[in-house]
This record gives sequence, structure tokens and C-alpha cells, in this order.
Amino acid sequence: MKTSTFLAAVTAFAGTAAAESMAKLRELKIDTWARQHEAGAYDIDRYQATAATSCVNGKAGEYQCSNVDLKGFLRHQDMGSSTRKGNDIWGWTAPNGREFATVGQTDGTAFVELLSDGSLVYLGRLPTQTTSSSWRDMKVIGNHVYIGSEASNHGLQVFDLTKLLDIDPSSPKVFSTTSDLTAIYKGFGSSHNIVAHEETNMIYAVGTAASAGCRGGLFMVNVTNPASPVKAGCLSAGGYVHDAQCVIYKGPDTRYTGKEICFNFNEDTLDIVDVTSKSSPKTLSSKTYNGASYTHQGWLLDSSMKYLLLDDELDEYYGNGKASNKKTTTYIVDISSLTAPTFSGIYQSPATSIDHNQYVVKGLSYQSNYGSGLRIVDVSSIPSKPDGSGLKQVGFFDCYPEDDSYGGRAEFTGSWSVYPFFKSGYVLLNSIERGVFSLKYTGAGAAFASE
Ligand SMILES: *[C@@H]1O[C@H](CO)[C@@H](O)[C@H](O)[C@H]1NC(C)=O
Repeated sequence: MKTSTFLAAVTAFAGTAAAESMAKLRELKIDTWARQHEAGAYDIDRYQATAATSCVNGKAGEYQCSNVDLKGFLRHQDMGSSTRKGNDIWGWTAPNGREFATVGQTDGTAFVELLSDGSLVYLGRLPTQTTSSSWRDMKVIGNHVYIGSEASNHGLQVFDLTKLLDIDPSSPKVFSTTSDLTAIYKGFGSSHNIVAHEETNMIYAVGTAASAGCRGGLFMVNVTNPASPVKAGCLSAGGYVHDAQCVIYKGPDTRYTGKEICFNFNEDTLDIVDVTSKSSPKTLSSKTYNGASYTHQGWLLDSSMKYLLLDDELDEYYGNGKASNKKTTTYIVDISSLTAPTFSGIYQSPATSIDHNQYVVKGLSYQSNYGSGLRIVDVSSIPSKPDGSGLKQVGFFDCYPEDDSYGGRAEFTGSWSVYPFFKSGYVLLNSIERGVFSLKYTGAGAAFASE
């Protein structure tokens, strides 16, 4: 939210550290990545191509692991990137069932196919629309991927993924940012993150520049016709939104049944908004919590829409609130009332690291936790124990061995994001330094998988 000094004063009075701004967070990360660059972390041939390796006695090759096998790996340099530095990832399942991923890199988006044995094949790439940037984010609706970036004047690339279906992998294709795009939407220039709501064909770009006119809040783009995206509205009341999940609501708060609701992660608050009317969205609540340092991302527990999980990106870094021990801390929010959500508990990982993105599938939260890599947490106990006491880690794959000798570190290195929604069950993890990992969880399912 971060709209007034009044709020900051109230937050400080409540005994919690004031949350940081995006500008400060960006500065911290740029510093870290400049040091990494200096140390050669993105150099060519810095990392080895690695064959599929099972997790045995806590190790898959050089990677620490538990109940997660390595099935495939492609380095950023093997996916046509000349900056060799990764960021977001999303997946696409073709109408015929083939599975593909769009892998974010600072200089573009790589396309890979995930084969039935879990291996990955590079097919080609779409370069950045303007310059390179550490931030690139993509989501898929139907057969199109929508790509935004913090790169100046980037806009929203719209790319038809069916173009990947007949590529011969022996000659990967570099697509044109003019003739191969379905559309390039320039209603905004830079953006931090792209949120997609498949059910309403809406893209919500967040963290757009002030000049785009939405104060960095939800910049709504109607992509019903992917070839001609149309601005549908703006939510600027809560200021900068860092990420969001939007749904057609069917949870316990029957006042909002059938409404389009977004859960916005707003730097120092969880904001719940009704965006049914694009021209006059309504904020239903804005709630902060002990330890709020940089409210980053989150995901609903399941389709009953009673709980959500939230991650804060700076609580571990600064050691704020419950994260004073720097163990990755996940917040549980009871959203039974959309106007009065309550923070009901936390979960702390056994690992020291910052959290970045998490998605929940069938009672398991797949967390991309920077230096501790993929962490799989059984979250199915939340409805019976909303204080978080029943949560447990059931598997992990640590894609960043460099900090192992320290017992982990709360730093902005390692994995950026994870895509756990493929029917095949393979989970893709994009690491900043190394490349994309195809992983298979081999442990037990959640005790209670509600969907
Ligand atoms: C989106 O565009 C479609 C087709 O042009 C239109 O029918 C629909 O009402 C639009 N939705 C919104 C929310 O503007």
C-alpha cells in the first residue's frame, strides 16, 4: 500500500519494521548481482551441462536434495542467452498435450519443450523488445504468452506459442520482435510483473512506471483478442502492487460470490480488491502484519478460497519479526472475510534463505526460495491448524551449491521462480545463475489434497 507517512507511523508504532520501497529493494538486488557479475557467476562455461541424476543420500550430483530427482537441465548459454542470467518462468500445455516452458532471461525469453522423460529441449527464443533488464515476467492465457519487463519502453509482447509446435530442435529459431509477434502492446512501457487471469482473459500488469498512469497498481489489459489488447481500467488506490492472484470468487464470504477478486501483494500489505468493474475497482481490505518488510507474492491454498500463503522478500534479509533467525518464513492468512482477513500463523523452513515465488498444487506448496532452491511444503494441515504448526517440508532441491558451506544465506542468489502445474508432474525451476532445472518430486502426496 505505502500511500502515506501516517501508515508508516502506525506500522512503526505497532512494533514492526517499516517496509521498504521497490526502489530500495531494486538497489539491494542490483548491488548483489553486480558483485555476482564481478565474481564471474554469469560467465560463459561457468557451469557444467548435467545429465539426469537421482537424489541419493541427500545429493543429486553437486546439488543437495531430498525426495526430488533431477530429470533435465539447460544452462542459460544453451538457451541462446548472451547475458546468461535468468528470472521468471511459466508453462504452456499445447492442445495436443505437449508441454513447453517460457524461460525468462535478462535478454529475452527462451522456449523449451519438456519431454516425457523429463528432459528439456531448447527450441528458440524471443529477444527483449528493447534493452536487457534483470526483470522479465511472463504468463500464459490460452495459446499466447504475455511478456513484460522492467526494460525501458518494453511494453507487453504477445507471442503465439503454437509457433513452437513444428520447430526442428536441431535448428532453434530466434523469433523476430516485429514480424513474429501477435501484438506488441505499448499502453505501458516498463512493468515489474505480469498477472494473468485466464477465466476473464485479463492481463494485469503491475509495477508499471508512473507515466503509465496507474501508480504501479493493476494496469488492466483485456486480451480477449490477443491480436489487439485493449486497456480496460486501472487500480491505483493502493499504489504500487508487486504481484497478485486474481480469481472468480467462490469462497466463504458469500457477499462476493461470482465477483472477480484480486489478492494484491503490496509491499507492506495484503490488499483484497474487487475488480469486477474495471472502471471502478473497489478495495475491500488492506492488511499488514508483524514483520512486514516487503510483501512480495502469494497464492491461495486451494479452490475453497479460505486461506492464502504469502511471502515477504525482505523479512529474512533484515531479520524482521518472526524471520529474525533468517529462516524462510511463510505467512498464513485466513481470508474467510474479504473485508477483514487475519494473519493466522507462519511456517518456517529449516533452511536459511529468502523466499520469492510459491504456487500451491494439491496441498503442496512449491516454493522458489533463492539460495535454498525448490522447497516443497505439505500445507494440507492449514484448515485444521491455521497457526501453521502442522506444516512440514517434504522435499527440496537446492540449485545454489555456492552457499552450502555457509549453511545457506539470505541473499538474492539462486532460484527466481518455479512452475509446478504440468500434468506430467515435472516441476521446472529457473535459476538466476545456472539455467532451468526439470525436477521430479518422488515423496508422498499431501495428506489432504483438496483438489
Ligand atoms: C473484453 O473484450 C471483449 C471482446 O472485445 C468484450 O466482449 C468484453 O466485454 C471486454 N471485457 C472487459 C472487462 O472490458
